[in-house]
Amino acid sequence: MARPARFVCAECGAAATKWSGRCDACGAWNSITEDAGLADGPAKSLGGARGRRVPLGDLTTSEPEPPRALSGIAELDRVLGGGLVPGSAILVGGDPGIGKSTLLLQAAAAYARRGARPIYVSGEEASAQVRMRATRLGLTDAPLKLAAETNLRDILTTLEAKRPALAVIDSIQTMWADHVDSAPGSVAQVRAAAHELTAFAKRRGVAVILVGHVTKDGQIAGPRVVEHMVDTVLYFEGERGHQFRILRAVKNRFGPSDEIGVFEMTGAGLAEVANPSALFLSERGQHTSGSVVFAGIEGTRPVLVEVQALVAPSALGTPRRTVVGWDGGRLATVLAVLEARCGIGFAGLDVYLNVAGGLRISEPAADLAVAAALVSAREDIPLPMDAVVFGEISLSGALRPIAQGEARLREAAKLGFASAFAPAGLKTSADTGLEIHMVADLSAFIEKCFGGIDQRDE
Ligand code: TYD
Ligand code: MG
Repeated sequence: MARPARFVCAECGAAATKWSGRCDACGAWNSITEDAGLADGPAKSLGGARGRRVPLGDLTTSEPEPPRALSGIAELDRVLGGGLVPGSAILVGGDPGIGKSTLLLQAAAAYARRGARPIYVSGEEASAQVRMRATRLGLTDAPLKLAAETNLRDILTTLEAKRPALAVIDSIQTMWADHVDSAPGSVAQVRAAAHELTAFAKRRGVAVILVGHVTKDGQIAGPRVVEHMVDTVLYFEGERGHQFRILRAVKNRFGPSDEIGVFEMTGAGLAEVANPSALFLSERGQHTSGSVVFAGIEGTRPVLVEVQALVAPSALGTPRRTVVGWDGGRLATVLAVLEARCGIGFAGLDVYLNVAGGLRISEPAADLAVAAALVSAREDIPLPMDAVVFGEISLSGALRPIAQGEARLREAAKLGFASAFAPAGLKTSADTGLEIHMVADLSAFIEKCFGGIDQRDE
């Protein structure tokens, strides 16, 4: 007979029969812990009892569009897919201290001002602390109900009695379900609490927002075990020393899943950033080599960001490749294509790549901007200050046309850029006002942009 699983990964929730230092499923280190909730062995069979018949619909059965509640915080409403859907469960994850409680207190107050009578349950701070924060944020006039509680049973009883339109649970790691025999913050507790709260949301049509801390060390259960239970997963990201914060939808049953909302952390809480391009470019220094403006698309919106590269002789046997805001594997690919297809090598050179403003870019269209920044830094030749760059690079060195070219160009024109480098075959109407340089491959781009590089060996 197979041994029942007794261990569980705090990062991804995978069950294991024995302890190990590294999770086989997600590769996290030191994340496997013993889980009493799994010790009962495999679930019992359903037996022969008859269930009730479930109603079956066909594909043409139309469901009405869910009604939505707007917070009036446009950046949040858009990330939610056009407002909050009643009965939906939303997980807001992020590093401790990034501003989750601040965001959700502001959001709850905004819903309260629109008559939604939300309840904000803090398991981490006393009510007095939450009130102090509300005073600092200028929210004291909002008819918002507060509770400082961690007992899940009491919280559910309260929510059941009050039936608010929205309940915020801050945080899921502090909730304690008394029917589960392990400590708060363990995977079993987090899973049980999330299950009860999402079931309540569905049953009563109450929107429930769960806050989840993400920690690296695996001691507190990561909210990943909760991700598949909820309708929407939002991540609140940003650099601690930086004032920009990005709310990113990574899963959304009720809207697009790659949408972002941009905020700025100020002395009086989070302020919306309606024009992120202007913000991301506001810190752009003087005209230096290695700096390229990428015309990207985040969700439904064009966003311009600065890609910065630094290339320096390396003292190490294996040169350094440091990336912030982009994928390290993708950087290696672009470096390899530059070397193999254009003869521009980076052996013996340290490469640092940074997306300014704390944004994380995942679009392949950033390839060309990255390549441009790398070559510009290596050769110490600045790009034209008023140019934007976008395009996907294939392994052959050819540039692939990419989607929404026109939206990118319009955003660039709006922010005062005069020219763009883009893949050949880009479809645009004539009047974007930019001078567009279309290039078929990476070599042609380097020729056009930098006037050719003598391909010396370093
Ligand atoms: P918080 O919302 O408590 O983070 P989380 O809930 O994700 O752990 O945010 C804490 C940080 O935000 C803290 O370092 C102080 C900063 N902050 C401001 O800069 N301005 C403000 O108005 C508030 C309320 C917090
Ligand atoms: Mg908090």
